[in-house]
Amino acid sequence: MPRQLFVTTALPYANGNFHIGHIMEYIQADIWVRYQRMMGSRVHFVCADDAHGAPIMIAAEKAGKTPQQFVADIAAGRKPYLDGFHIGFDNWHSTDGAENHELAQQIYRDLKANGLIATRVIAQFFDPQKNMFLPDRFIKGECPKCGAKDQYGDNCEACGAVYSPTELKNPYSALTGATPELRDSEHYFFKLSDPRCVAFLEKWTQGSHARDQPHLQSEVYNKIKEWLLPDAHGKRDLGDWDISRDAPYFGIEIPDAPGKYFYVWLDAPIGYLAALKNRFIKLAGDAALGAQHFEAFMADPATEQYHFIGKDIITFHTLFWPAMLHFSGRKTPNAIFVHGFLTVNSEKMSKSRGTGLDPLKYLSLGMNPEWLRYYIAAKLNARNEDVEFSPEDFMARVNSDLVGKYINIASRAAGFIAKRFDGQLGAVSADGQTLLNQLRVERASIEQLYESREFAKALRETMLLADRVNEYVDANKPWELAKQAGMEARLHDVCSVCIEAFAVLTSYLKPVLPALAAQVEAFLCIAPLSFGSASQALGAGHRIGNYQHLLQRVDIKQLEALFEAPASVEQASAVAESAAPGGEEIAPTVGAGASSLPPEGAVLALGRPGGEAIAPPIGIEDFSKIDLRIARIVNCEPVQGSTKLLRLTLDAGEGTDPQGQPITRKVFSGIASAYQPQDLIGKLTVLVANLAPRKMKFGLSEGMVLAASHGDEKANPGIYVLEPSKGAQPGLRVR
Ligand code: MSP
Ligand code: ZN
Repeated sequence: MPRQLFVTTALPYANGNFHIGHIMEYIQADIWVRYQRMMGSRVHFVCADDAHGAPIMIAAEKAGKTPQQFVADIAAGRKPYLDGFHIGFDNWHSTDGAENHELAQQIYRDLKANGLIATRVIAQFFDPQKNMFLPDRFIKGECPKCGAKDQYGDNCEACGAVYSPTELKNPYSALTGATPELRDSEHYFFKLSDPRCVAFLEKWTQGSHARDQPHLQSEVYNKIKEWLLPDAHGKRDLGDWDISRDAPYFGIEIPDAPGKYFYVWLDAPIGYLAALKNRFIKLAGDAALGAQHFEAFMADPATEQYHFIGKDIITFHTLFWPAMLHFSGRKTPNAIFVHGFLTVNSEKMSKSRGTGLDPLKYLSLGMNPEWLRYYIAAKLNARNEDVEFSPEDFMARVNSDLVGKYINIASRAAGFIAKRFDGQLGAVSADGQTLLNQLRVERASIEQLYESREFAKALRETMLLADRVNEYVDANKPWELAKQAGMEARLHDVCSVCIEAFAVLTSYLKPVLPALAAQVEAFLCIAPLSFGSASQALGAGHRIGNYQHLLQRVDIKQLEALFEAPASVEQASAVAESAAPGGEEIAPTVGAGASSLPPEGAVLALGRPGGEAIAPPIGIEDFSKIDLRIARIVNCEPVQGSTKLLRLTLDAGEGTDPQGQPITRKVFSGIASAYQPQDLIGKLTVLVANLAPRKMKFGLSEGMVLAASHGDEKANPGIYVLEPSKGAQPGLRVR
């Protein structure tokens, strides 16, 4: 019996387009699904937009749209990304779909019937102008610990303190600026602290499913057991979960509770089921019949359910979601597969700042989507470690491994087969057969690596096999055989071995490179490859097609273009630069700007970390001449007439003046392209405290702050002001 699988990725918030982090998650899941299908499993691979919640409601209002229209517009933009990166979801749905409304209400009713829903009155901030309760993120005020202004309701970005919104000093609504009032409201809770839930979760999180695989990766279990298990005093962090929000809210109404909606995280995972149900309805072409098929599929003990997610949403998926399913009488997931975060040039994806690698720009530059699939697969393992996209590494892996090792095998042999042997493969002699056997015998272990999501290892194994084949080619030198009289048969033999080997390697790479594999299948005139076909030779007499180039190398110019700043930013800095001599002086922000590198090639060259060679050595006595101090940015303002500069007011712990005013310094810094003034206020940074003051067009600069940037800022934009670890205080020396 083929395995029968239900696979999802996390449902992305419908408040923005995909970023490269989403694409990584989809590529990981898609590779696994393609592997499963090659093994004969029947898979339903679905996803949906996560449509509900206050942030989306507010974003829609700002955009002058209904929330429904707002999320529909986002949904309409999904296809180019998914098609572009060969991500083969069987269905894309929405948590605002009818199926989800129905399923969420049903699951709630089941939980309630099971005695697991409670109500409690809680006091919450209410915006009297907007007439709504405010989510924590929409309440701002002064940090109760350090006094930093404009901090969010849940934690302080200046000192890291965590608190509840009611502790903020001088709170205000981020929506209207009004002072919020505390008001009572009845909330609905899922009683996760019920002994039945605790007992179930303790068991489930440590459990395994039918295939003897644990539900959770060990590092994931270790993380959530802090929540779940009692501490030394027998207390648990896992409390009842607040699942309701008051109107106005974009969400699903709670049955028999007028004006109450499910909190978005209650209905979001139910969206997995809704997306599947919607697929069955589409397949059946009939709502009632589709619903029946869905119920039957989910009731079938043979059905396996897997969710691919990132490490930021573990608690929802490993505690709340299994409990919701179990106590509403449904099957629980077989496993939650957690991955780490993708960083680009060591930076986390930031929705607000829009840095990183733009997936659509990647495609529009004509870059091959399967390069990215290959690269990501080559970095992924079964643990939730972060994955770094580095342009140098990307180019090296694609060009030297994928093209240099694998594609090369076909391009070295196919021409001879076509020209000299009329496109027909010949007989393989003993040494070639030995090589092919070595390749084929690895099949089971490569399958196992895909099954367990050890993609990096699967590709490494495959590339080691490609190395063997290339060694065989180098030892036999077909290009020389071709010139020698009487070596015709050996040439045919060697080239046939190469083509047979290429077919085996292609089957091993196919989950990662589906389009390339299809091209190879066409070129080799064979049926779609499965892992099983790896064990069968094409055989003497098999005729192949004409070799056409299968895969280009990455061109460094493409990478440069990919990371080039958008035109507006570039123009801004060009204007500032041409105006510099005699006009605007740029405060010398250490590390930022000023690069004498040739623009081409140098950006990504190896041995030049961050785009420039390490400076000549200095002694410690040279370094100690520079007095670096921790300073707090107490104010930060734009500079009239400058696109590059911000004016910072810094407190470096230098005490107070005779009038009792804190002594501060004014510093101009060329970081306006990367920061909004309000982003920096309250932050700590590092000040060069003994730099001679410098008169600039806009005033005196009394030092400078440290920031990191690439040697070629144009091709690799991004400026990163340094920030000390938690606990540092203004005035401390950095040594
Ligand atoms: N809407 C919720 C998920 C609900 S699931 C029932 C959500 N959405 S999200 O858009 O913020 O994230 C969607 C997925 O993308 C999550 O699995 C998240 O971990 C993943 N990623 C977001 N940024 C990422 C990276 N930089 N790298 C890898 N995955 C990342 O959370
Ligand atoms: Zn603080």
